[in-house]
Amino acid sequence: MLGDKKRLLSGVKPSGKQHIGNYFAAIKQFVDLQADYESYVFVADYHALNFIQNAKELTENIIHIAKVYVAVGLNTKNTVLFKQSDISEHTELAWIFDTITTVPYLMRAHAFKDAEAKGKEVGVGTFNYPMLMAADILLYDADIVPVGQDQKQHVEYARDTAEKFNRIFGNTFTLPKERIIEEVATIPGTDGRKMSKSYGNTIPLFGSKDEIAKAVMSIVTDSAGDSPKNVYAIHRLLKSEAELEPLYKEKAGKYKDLKEALIEDLEERIAPMREKYNTITDEEVKRVLQNGAEKARAIASAKMADVRQKIGVTL
Ligand code: ADP
Ligand code: TRP
Repeated sequence: MLGDKKRLLSGVKPSGKQHIGNYFAAIKQFVDLQADYESYVFVADYHALNFIQNAKELTENIIHIAKVYVAVGLNTKNTVLFKQSDISEHTELAWIFDTITTVPYLMRAHAFKDAEAKGKEVGVGTFNYPMLMAADILLYDADIVPVGQDQKQHVEYARDTAEKFNRIFGNTFTLPKERIIEEVATIPGTDGRKMSKSYGNTIPLFGSKDEIAKAVMSIVTDSAGDSPKNVYAIHRLLKSEAELEPLYKEKAGKYKDLKEALIEDLEERIAPMREKYNTITDEEVKRVLQNGAEKARAIASAKMADVRQKIGVTL
């Protein structure tokens, strides 16, 4: 136990290289809040299996996320870092949640509706995604779940599921709450849509300076007026309005100069973390994840013992 602090839990699915949208909206919050909460941060590898069905790629992505967690400053002494697939209680609890959840309720999930609207064949794992995520959160009695705006509904599903289980079987789970920072709720990508791996419009978090520069130079600037709104939105992640105002005034209409200033500011912020990222070995993060799994398992298995008792399978 780390005292009587409230619990924070969040995760990122290892479905590709992390971008600055992931960092500023989600991962940075884990770092900023870790001193104030008992924190559990994990790699959602079974969620990623819906998207990545290639062993080598999934392994590389898992290692990547774990290194990102360490490089951005998560303190592995206090924050429990682990991977979902190491704790089989997550999938076990997800099954139990499936049995108290209806199909129409899951059909209202944005991710499912989007996939359907695009005419995609929706996998059962994608359909059940919110139930596995509810299990991730509820197993640890998390109080807060820091995420970007697009995950708000998933945390609501977790909260509803906790309520439903508690109603049927008696009080068991803490009701979690999402934590979203309004200013960075949705960070635009280089094409002005939400920055996302699936749109190919990202600025990579730990890309080389050249890669970052190339991405910044490709930001679309067809906004009205003298201030390129997509460049400014990303710049605001790094500097205050007061700091940016003189620059954007002086360089009004000079989009290339403003982009160059953004590249320098991004580099200044990212370079120290990238340096650290590059020194972390695979062996090191595997050890971190193993240690974390031991701590996470102790909590998850105690919770599952309670759940099994409550549903009546413990004889
Ligand atoms: P992607 O859309 O690139 O696949 P993920 O779904 O893996 O990103 O998101 C990981 C975390 O980062 C989530 O908490 C999500 O809300 C947040 N996030 C991702 N992209 C953005 C964005 N453009 N703006 C704000 N938050 C984001
Ligand atoms: N669905 C989240 C995402 O795409 C990842 C995730 C899985 C998660 N389980 C979680 C986030 C539990 C917070 C809490 O980003």
